[in-house]
Amino acid sequence: MNHMHRIVYFSPAGTTRLVAETIRERLLEHRCQVEMINLSVQGTAARQSPSSPADTPVCLWIGSPVYCDHAVPLVSDWIEVLPPGQDSCAVPFVTWGGVTTGLALPEMAGMLAEKQYVPVAAAKILAVHASMWGVDEPLAKGHPDTADLDQVRELVDVVVKRLAHPERAALDLKLLDYLPPAMRAEAQIKSLAAAKASMPPLAADEQLCTSCGICAEVCPVEAIVVDPYPIISETCVMCKQCVQACPEGAFPSNQEAMAVRIRGMADSSQEEKVTAVFY
Ligand SMILES: Cc1cc2nc3c(=O)[nH]c(=O)nc-3n(C[C@H](O)[C@H](O)[C@H](O)COP(=O)(O)O)c2cc1C
Repeated sequence: MNHMHRIVYFSPAGTTRLVAETIRERLLEHRCQVEMINLSVQGTAARQSPSSPADTPVCLWIGSPVYCDHAVPLVSDWIEVLPPGQDSCAVPFVTWGGVTTGLALPEMAGMLAEKQYVPVAAAKILAVHASMWGVDEPLAKGHPDTADLDQVRELVDVVVKRLAHPERAALDLKLLDYLPPAMRAEAQIKSLAAAKASMPPLAADEQLCTSCGICAEVCPVEAIVVDPYPIISETCVMCKQCVQACPEGAFPSNQEAMAVRIRGMADSSQEEKVTAVFY
């Protein structure tokens, strides 16, 4: 059976995109048919609502950064509205900053299975922590590196081989229950929404803001309207691309304090800080 490979991903800081591109290149080396959908390009998530099942079976590669122990809500929402797959399969993959992958992979795989996209493999790829852009030694600095991406290529090879025998391809979802129970329980109560609620709302300093609109341009979820200063809506995912891009430094950000907090979480996490593939 010849599957059409659809790679869908969200990647504010670019590492999930790098993994998606690595998957694409390897699939092309296998002469597979490939389509890419980047949900972080403005308007794409709304425009590219998942298409109805086509004649060709689909292998959906779906990638998200881990945010607060889960996939980014925009990615889960995208899966949520996916029409049921027919002879389709899926490979969820996440990038993570060396704290924990939480429940992101089992949750994505479970949702896909419910949509009749049979999970055939999965991956968690270690990647520099996107919230630590302003410090010299961010967690997982230098990742994904060549060895991480080689594991991704190997995973593609395995998936392509398995799809030739789809009846034998299903991933044992127990493999994704790798977190110790205490960490699983902790991840269950964490969420981006809860993290946002516990922080002061993101707002530009009106004394510094020149209303240039760059923050709105770089926002991958179209959460910002500049009128006359940035107004940030509920859809904000705290990726802080606006904070990094602002030429005036108008969004207050204490990178050192953030780094201390994140390092503390990473130290108390028992998850091994490595890339892992599951099949
Ligand atoms: C708001 C936010 C929350 C994050 N939460 C986690 C987390 O729970 N665990 C973790 O290991 N990394 C976490 N990270 C780091 C990202 O998962 C990691 O840097 C990812 O590779 C970013 O993907 P991107 O480069 O495609 O945007 C978080 C980053 C941000 C911005």
